[in-house]
Amino acid sequence: MTAEIAKSTFQNHFSTPPELVIRAPGRINLIGEHTDYNGGFVLPAAIDKAIWMAAGRRDDGRFAFFARDLGEFFISDNEKPVYQERQTWVNYLLGVVSEAQKDGLVFGGLNLVFGGDVPLGAGLSSSAAIESGAMFVINELYRLGLSKMDIVRLAQRGENHFVGMKCGIMDMFASVMGRKNQVVRLDCRNLEFEYFPFETPDFSLVLFDSGVKHALVDSEYNTRREECEAGVAILKKFNPGISSLRDVSFPFLKKHQHDLPPTVFKRCKFVVEEIGRVERACLALQKNDFETLGALMFEGHDGLNLEYAVCVPETNFLVESARHFAPKGLVAGARQMGGGFGGCVINLLKISVLSEFSEQTNAAYRRAFGIDLKIYPVRLAAGTEIISGQAPDPATLSIRSTL
Ligand code: GLA
Repeated sequence: MTAEIAKSTFQNHFSTPPELVIRAPGRINLIGEHTDYNGGFVLPAAIDKAIWMAAGRRDDGRFAFFARDLGEFFISDNEKPVYQERQTWVNYLLGVVSEAQKDGLVFGGLNLVFGGDVPLGAGLSSSAAIESGAMFVINELYRLGLSKMDIVRLAQRGENHFVGMKCGIMDMFASVMGRKNQVVRLDCRNLEFEYFPFETPDFSLVLFDSGVKHALVDSEYNTRREECEAGVAILKKFNPGISSLRDVSFPFLKKHQHDLPPTVFKRCKFVVEEIGRVERACLALQKNDFETLGALMFEGHDGLNLEYAVCVPETNFLVESARHFAPKGLVAGARQMGGGFGGCVINLLKISVLSEFSEQTNAAYRRAFGIDLKIYPVRLAAGTEIISGQAPDPATLSIRSTL
């Protein structure tokens, strides 16, 4: 998909040109997994894989969506968002509509076409790009005056309350707020953020898509979240000032190890240490110390695997393969990225070794699991942006598009 294809698909579908075309990128996360919903730090970036959306207003209050890559169309009966059991992709779009309406924001209907090259189910947050992209579009077309952070929050609420996935804020934040060649450290406790340049002539980032998507990923994710909350509820009894795992130091956690069920302790230990790793990763980045950054990624993966228990044999295999190259200083680090149970492994490696490493790993992966790896070199790109069109004049609000 490109902006041009988004435009022409819209024209074909709605017999009128779109008023607006935007690009909403996918994201990577360098380090800081499962820390966002624990009030910790994350270190994500928007990437050069994106969802493109072409959109225009409707004056009958209905919502018409065409998912180009799926070849599926949906139109609502009226302006009221109703959860869709069959076409589940629709819920990402209706979710933001629902949350925005709850906030009393006033806007009309929407015609929207979308598609892109963010691989689905690979942990690159195609859903967050769709949610925040849709909110961005509605904000522009109906001049709602929302800030980027308002859009981020509404998109997260749509996913939490309408889709039913209790995700944190990282994915939408990265998609909307990303900057070219920069990662951004977000403090998920107070939503303060700082950009860090990620530009190096020697190292690059490459994603290996394991091709595994666990059917239980959403329910397991919600369970991890509950386990962290259970830990906080117990630790709070010893220090009422604790409101999330961000407020818990490692010595304090260790002191209360036996007050926590063993599984809860392991989950909390991972999160507390992972929050520390993000801080150390930022210091390393400031010094262009990619070796330390990579070592932290390997360490984070071990925690995800052994303590947070969200890894699968396929992603463990890929990280082990990266470790095999590590002693030669060629692959600085690797780890499973995103919610877990498959998806992508992110590798930080010397550009010079990219093709050799990719080929060897792919061959070994095929021998072990009988499937080919999908390999995505990524560049860090700008966050959600307008490609063409502009916020229309409210006086022209009665545009009607035919179906
Ligand atoms: C998913 C969620 C994010 C975050 C990651 C794990 O991508 O959507 O909010 O919790 O998992 O870091």
